[in-house]
Amino acid sequence: MIMDNPLIPVYARVIKIIEETPDVKSFQVEFLDKEIGERFDYLPGQCAQVSLVGVGESHFVINSTPTRKGPLQFSVKKAGKHTAALHEIEEGAVVGVRGPFGNSFPVEEMKGKNVLIVGGGIGLAPLRTLINYMLDKREEYGKITIVYGARTSKDLVYKEELDEWAAKPGVDLHLTIDIEEEGWTKNVGVVPVVLEKIAPSPEKTVTVTCGPPIMIKFTLQSLTKLGFKPEDIITTLEMRMKCGIGKCGRCNIGHIYVCQDGPVFTYAQLKSLPQEF
Ligand SMILES: Cc1cc2nc3c(=O)[nH]c(=O)nc-3n(C[C@H](O)[C@H](O)[C@H](O)COP(=O)(O)OP(=O)(O)OC[C@H]3O[C@@H](n4cnc5c(N)ncnc54)[C@H](O)[C@@H]3O)c2cc1C
Ligand code: FES
Repeated sequence: MIMDNPLIPVYARVIKIIEETPDVKSFQVEFLDKEIGERFDYLPGQCAQVSLVGVGESHFVINSTPTRKGPLQFSVKKAGKHTAALHEIEEGAVVGVRGPFGNSFPVEEMKGKNVLIVGGGIGLAPLRTLINYMLDKREEYGKITIVYGARTSKDLVYKEELDEWAAKPGVDLHLTIDIEEEGWTKNVGVVPVVLEKIAPSPEKTVTVTCGPPIMIKFTLQSLTKLGFKPEDIITTLEMRMKCGIGKCGRCNIGHIYVCQDGPVFTYAQLKSLPQEF
């Protein structure tokens, strides 16, 4: 833990706000204390609690990449009171940050393998970190196949970056939207259907998936049909969280604490847990 007390937020200034979609904004933040900024290190998949004084605190995945020094980025989908209040702040505002929390995608074990990324909507946030991390260490990973979808083209996040990724050698990007739209020339259909159509090989391939629960449910079924083994499928859970440090008991599933043992799990691990998430 970088912070002296993991329960006390550290102030950070919002230096840039990007409107990603009608209900998602990305916030780039820098710690007021530069020394904390220097020490703050994290891995793809890790999260932090972001707070607004007098309003609340929420868990968000850090979707910048540790391979590029600079501000931390969080993407926030408007869901309720706190996220709506975050959508109202302007550049220059000060927020609180605690973290990083939780485990990360197994980037060391994934080395030398092909990586299949399957994302839906705001679920691309943790996958963005992983994709940029692997692109910055390109020789350490095999082919990167990305299947990403949203309800409409307006709901796709990181639009400019999607084009940049598609242009990189060894990256195969498949975009999809749920319903036909005028001018849309890419896939139409929900993510699991497009995934089965593309039918990527499970050979030497690890899959990392994140998105709405319904997408994850059918994606896991499709991956199983395609021959992917549960231990080669990785996902990240979004249980409700409070303390982030295994103290409050808000996030447990059976004997595990998602804030500490997760949020990243293999499908094999999830299958062994009580089905309460
Ligand atoms: C590990 C982790 C990573 C996350 N990463 C992101 C992220 O990168 N970007 C992002 O926008 N959100 C992320 N979330 C979800 C985010 O924390 C919640 O949307 C936020 O706390 C909602 O706060 P609120 O006060 O605006 O909404 P509330 O008033 O608390 O709730 C509004 C609505 O959202 C639902 N909701 C609230 N929290 C969650 C949750 N954790 N999971 C599912 N539904 C929820 C409630 O049931 C309710 O319907 C993450 C959550 C976790 C646990
Ligand atoms: S969030 Fe408090 S124990 Fe996990």
